[in-house]
Amino acid sequence: MTIAVMGAMPEEIEPILKRLDTYETVDYAQNRYVTAHYGSHKLVIAYSKIGKVFSALTAATLIEKFGAELLLFSGVAGGINPELKIGDLIVATKLCQHDLDITAFGHPYGYVPEGAVFIKSDATLRRQAMAVAKSMNIELKEGVIATGDQFVASLERKAWIEKVFHADALEMEGTSVAVVCNALDIPFLILRAISDTADMDAGFDFDTFLKSSAETSADFIMKMVEQL
Ligand code: ADE
Repeated sequence: MTIAVMGAMPEEIEPILKRLDTYETVDYAQNRYVTAHYGSHKLVIAYSKIGKVFSALTAATLIEKFGAELLLFSGVAGGINPELKIGDLIVATKLCQHDLDITAFGHPYGYVPEGAVFIKSDATLRRQAMAVAKSMNIELKEGVIATGDQFVASLERKAWIEKVFHADALEMEGTSVAVVCNALDIPFLILRAISDTADMDAGFDFDTFLKSSAETSADFIMKMVEQL
């Protein structure tokens, strides 16, 4: 099977590339795509650059140009749910765009006509992720992930996203990837390790924990690939 493994930043895919003996690269649409064989699978790996637009472009390219039949996203997130501590893993049950706002026309936050506030992730992949967590003896939380083109470092904004979307974590790419996969009928999983808690210390914590949390997430994703 051809499996896409994507992140947003170089730090999110470097731990994956380190595990490969050999790989090839293809430059396309101002981005670099890495192809490799891993066990019985073909992997296509890329980081998109930060945000909804770049991540949608990369997800669509992984599927349409490189033939990905399944997409696994690995990266870091800001925690909202107080149970989520730095380094903890969360897999999205459903995802939404917290910065999408046409409420002026009477629509709910996160909604545009012919879209949906929430996009559900693939239940089978989630079950497989929970089984992998069990086999590794680590805790994997399931929850709502909210996406927006904002680095959130404010208790006020974080509380608003929690109140409106009941989100457990937030980041900047998951929902755009989910929208693309959903539209193209490709099963997807969005996995994140917490790098900060989206409060006034978020910038400092993000810089401090990006590498270690990205590695935690990438290690888990590769365990999943091995069991698919
Ligand atoms: N990714 C990791 N931490 C984040 C934050 N605080 N805001 C947005 N995206 C993030």
